[in-house]
Amino acid sequence: MTNGKSIKKVAVFTSGGDAPGMNACVRAVVRTALYHGLQVTGIMRGYEGMIEGDFQNLTSQSVSNIIHRGGTILKTARSQRFRTEEGMQQAYRALRAERIDGVVAIGGDGTFKGATEFSNKYEIPFIGIPGTIDNDLFGTDFTIGYDTALNTVIEAIDKIRDTAQSHERLFFIEVMGRDAGFIALNAGIAAGAEAVLIPETVTDIRKLAEDLEGGWLRKKTSSIVIVAEGDDIGGAIEISNKVKELLPDKYDIRVTILGHIQRGGNPTCSDRVLASRLGHAAVEALIHGKSNMMVGTVHDKIHFTPFEKAVKHHVSVDSELLNLADVLSY
Ligand code: F6P
Repeated sequence: MTNGKSIKKVAVFTSGGDAPGMNACVRAVVRTALYHGLQVTGIMRGYEGMIEGDFQNLTSQSVSNIIHRGGTILKTARSQRFRTEEGMQQAYRALRAERIDGVVAIGGDGTFKGATEFSNKYEIPFIGIPGTIDNDLFGTDFTIGYDTALNTVIEAIDKIRDTAQSHERLFFIEVMGRDAGFIALNAGIAAGAEAVLIPETVTDIRKLAEDLEGGWLRKKTSSIVIVAEGDDIGGAIEISNKVKELLPDKYDIRVTILGHIQRGGNPTCSDRVLASRLGHAAVEALIHGKSNMMVGTVHDKIHFTPFEKAVKHHVSVDSELLNLADVLSY
């Protein structure tokens, strides 16, 4: 492979919310870089560690036995300081002092917003890899961690269904997704939820209450409503309270907030393979002189999207899936 831009040393970091598969991705970045004769530095705690110069030399051994582990060995953070001019300057100086020629950033929306601003001001090339359970980035079929999170969520919903069925209850289950309903919608379909409420659609509480009552009249003995945390009406507690006001007392209502359990655990096979492919592609992209782009897969093929596009473009929910969730909940 030709090393057009004379890249000798690359750095890798994870940033934003952790996602299962980040470790597999770090491993792929490190091993690919070493394979091509490059040195690799791990930046600890995302942009925070970049600002502070918290760097670690990574060897092949540093990333052995991590492909199957959740979380991120590089730690992660959401950095306020990197949003300031001073923070960015400090980060630039630290990268230069470490003689970094290219950076691989693994994270979500916030990570790429930071990378876009940074790369508009400083000449160090960045390649981004989508790592977030939310699956809300433009330019990739899937983000690393999404498949694992979905499996965690449906396993939890299945368990709640057992108790809901036994007690003949109505459950509101809140899942992650501050701005996006992909987890809620797909988990809702996979777990046979009676309703799915997501930020991308307007929630009609009266219709929801009517639909739930209709289900009970058709002899349903339990109901599950999946609520994405960013729904326009509010979280599961708020929505359950509003529904309670409209339904007769006979409904025994409970709320479960799945919370951060959704971000942990061993990555699924799909997430490990995706993470490995993207980590490999990111290093090769730096070697070929690419910069300021996110690498993802589109129709299962490696695809590059400029940061600005990945950040600005919104991924819309699939109306076919919305309709499917509605029809199958009858
Ligand atoms: O990683 C993205 C995300 O999972 C969102 O869906 C959620 O709103 C947020 O992280 C929660 O983040 P924190 O760990 O800061 O509570």
